[in-house]
Amino acid sequence: MKFLSQLFDNNKQWAIDVEQQEPGFFKSLSEQQKPEYLWIGCADSRVPANEIVGLKPGELFVHRNVANTVVHTDLNCLSVIQYAVDVLKVKHIIVTGHYGCGGVNAAMQNGRFGLIDNWLRHIKDVQHKHQDHLKAIESEGKRQDRLTELHVIEQVMNVAQTSIVQDAWARGQELQLHSWIYSVGDGMLRDLKANMSSSDQALESYQEAVARLKDS
Ligand code: CO
Repeated sequence: MKFLSQLFDNNKQWAIDVEQQEPGFFKSLSEQQKPEYLWIGCADSRVPANEIVGLKPGELFVHRNVANTVVHTDLNCLSVIQYAVDVLKVKHIIVTGHYGCGGVNAAMQNGRFGLIDNWLRHIKDVQHKHQDHLKAIESEGKRQDRLTELHVIEQVMNVAQTSIVQDAWARGQELQLHSWIYSVGDGMLRDLKANMSSSDQALESYQEAVARLKDS
């Protein structure tokens, strides 16, 4: 049995360092969290949400799963969104995909990977929806990148269509949705600009973002 003592040592040192830099940090955090952002990202170990955007504990509410996928019946993801919007009152929901995503690339292959194939179906649905667009791209690598980008935009639209976000907008709550993509190769984020801030404007923003990709 390994007790992973190295990780406990790392943790102790981290807690000491944080407390030294900002005395009382943990005590004030223990009293409440007031994040302004909900991050929906991939579970990939190379895409650590807080680090990428330089935010401290308490500043980012996070949900991660394989290929940053928002499914209308996923109670786990929906519960995170509902708590973030209704209770924490976050002002921004950011869906972030990343190039080289194993989930997206696996979905493009016809191999069998086990239970996860059922989850990857959601990505295949995006692939089918945009098959004309994707088929026109010759390079396999570029096609994977494009599906990764389209998948992010579709997931933001899925967030917009939840009853949670629709209700928040209907009662006038300030809430913006964002679609970002991260490159593990250079550590940089890019905005895919499917930005949504109301029911009326969401579909238009979605369509413009998809059209922008087609033209690029
Ligand atoms: Co991924």
